[in-house]
Amino acid sequence: MAKFYITTAIVYANSRPHIGHAYEIVTTDVIARYRRMLGDDVYFCTGSDEHSINVYTKALEQGKDPQVYCDEMAKVYKDLWKRYGISNNDYVQTTEERHKKSVMQLFKKCFDAGDIYKGAYEGHYCKSCEAFYTEAELDEGGICKIHKIKADVVKEENYFLRLSKYQDKLLAHIQNNPSFLEPETRRNEILNMIKAGLNDISVSRNGQKWGIPLNFDTDHKVYVWFDALINYITAVGYASDEEKFAKYWPADYHIIGKDITKFHCIIWPIMLMSAGVPLPKKVFGHGFLLNKGEKMSKTRGNIVDPENVINVFGADAIRYYFASHITNGVDGEFSEDAIITCFNSYLANDLGNLINRSITMVEKYFEGVVPAYTEAAQTPRMKEIRESIDALATEYMKKMDVLNMSGALEDAWKRVAIANKFIDESAPWTLAKENKTEILGNVMYLLLEIIRVTSLCLIPVIPDTAKKIWDKLGIQYTELLPSFENEMKFGKLPVGTKVSKGEPLFPRIVDEEKEKEKGKKLK
Ligand code: MSP
Repeated sequence: MAKFYITTAIVYANSRPHIGHAYEIVTTDVIARYRRMLGDDVYFCTGSDEHSINVYTKALEQGKDPQVYCDEMAKVYKDLWKRYGISNNDYVQTTEERHKKSVMQLFKKCFDAGDIYKGAYEGHYCKSCEAFYTEAELDEGGICKIHKIKADVVKEENYFLRLSKYQDKLLAHIQNNPSFLEPETRRNEILNMIKAGLNDISVSRNGQKWGIPLNFDTDHKVYVWFDALINYITAVGYASDEEKFAKYWPADYHIIGKDITKFHCIIWPIMLMSAGVPLPKKVFGHGFLLNKGEKMSKTRGNIVDPENVINVFGADAIRYYFASHITNGVDGEFSEDAIITCFNSYLANDLGNLINRSITMVEKYFEGVVPAYTEAAQTPRMKEIRESIDALATEYMKKMDVLNMSGALEDAWKRVAIANKFIDESAPWTLAKENKTEILGNVMYLLLEIIRVTSLCLIPVIPDTAKKIWDKLGIQYTELLPSFENEMKFGKLPVGTKVSKGEPLFPRIVDEEKEKEKGKKLK
């Protein structure tokens, strides 16, 4: 059993959930569930980034104790992720004791290695990015390029981490390990940054009230990014559980948004190199969800609330949309219209109708009992379809293995399209009339097999619905299929099994506004 450790970024506790957070955690969940299905010992972790000064300020604004506020916000996220069907094994809050211990240990290791020194910082700091910037990195007038707000001018005595010392080592690591940072565009950005030269960075803030104090200089709090990145090792027992740490670290995947690649691919690996901890195997910087082509932001007022979205569409529609319709690694569009169209055409029409039509026919022509498939009645077209079923597992796994979920689902949907077309091509109603029972049996068996293998491909994406499909097919599966490739082979559906149509799985989503519009036009 291989171990597989996967993480998302941890969300700032002062912000309400954002559809971009939902996108990141859903796609990560799909990968975690995929690996679990294949039998890996998966550890999947997410969490809250709580030592930002913005968290402290927000808590005080609301008249709350910062810790109480952090716990409340963590609950908001945990509850929401449950509704999204997220299967995380752990949730790290950076105010937890286990995390403080882990931060202190790593800080000390870097300090003992001679890589942390006291110096004077004079420059800019964007509160929203929680990042130090040189003037050249900001827009004119000291404006942060990301948040469009004026960065603070900061002059303080801080502890610095020697990024410069590790520049060549990091460059060599990224050059020699192309899979360390994906996709390619992000890799090139980071390589260029390193080649341009790395400056040492502040890893403490002086005189702040909120954060983890340095135990040898308590006026200083650990810089929030230095603190937050460590969550990835806290979760698997760094400084608290040696056995667990040895088992799960290094992480197999850090899944993060493209805006924070620099922190994960420059600062984080150097912190680990300095402390003598192995580097994660891969950082994947996904794209952004855009709202009608625009970046979502508070100033534009176009942030989509994932709570509203799940209330309206339910988890299946959103999970399927994220996995199938957004190419991992590049920006994608989020709109209610796109979700409705995707759900209605891919799930309700393509798959839902295939299931309904096929089972209805098996009920009508074979009293609901799965008929035998006979070689004698096999036509060349049937043989082709059989072969395409057999080829699906390899295609699907090849894409899932490189986080190309949309490609993997596209391959599965090619089979769904084949099946829908095959119904029309083979006209089962005529075969029934002409009493061509063996040929009709083969047609039905092929259709049911396509439904079955599609449902297996859906285990990581919409697991509860995959189960409902098995109920209709009268078969028992689990989400744990170490022999996935074997189960995907044609012929695994037992002959004689009783199928049942039951309720439709994907009732079409009706866009009421549009229906009203249509009604108006008709009048
Ligand atoms: N707290 C830091 C991460 C620390 S990780 C050690 C942070 N938090 S965040 O709340 O701003 O963002 C959390 C994740 O959501 C990031 O990976 C970020 O890229 C992602 N997204 C935020 N907005 C997004 C979109 N519009 N679209 C997709 N993901 C985006 O950064």
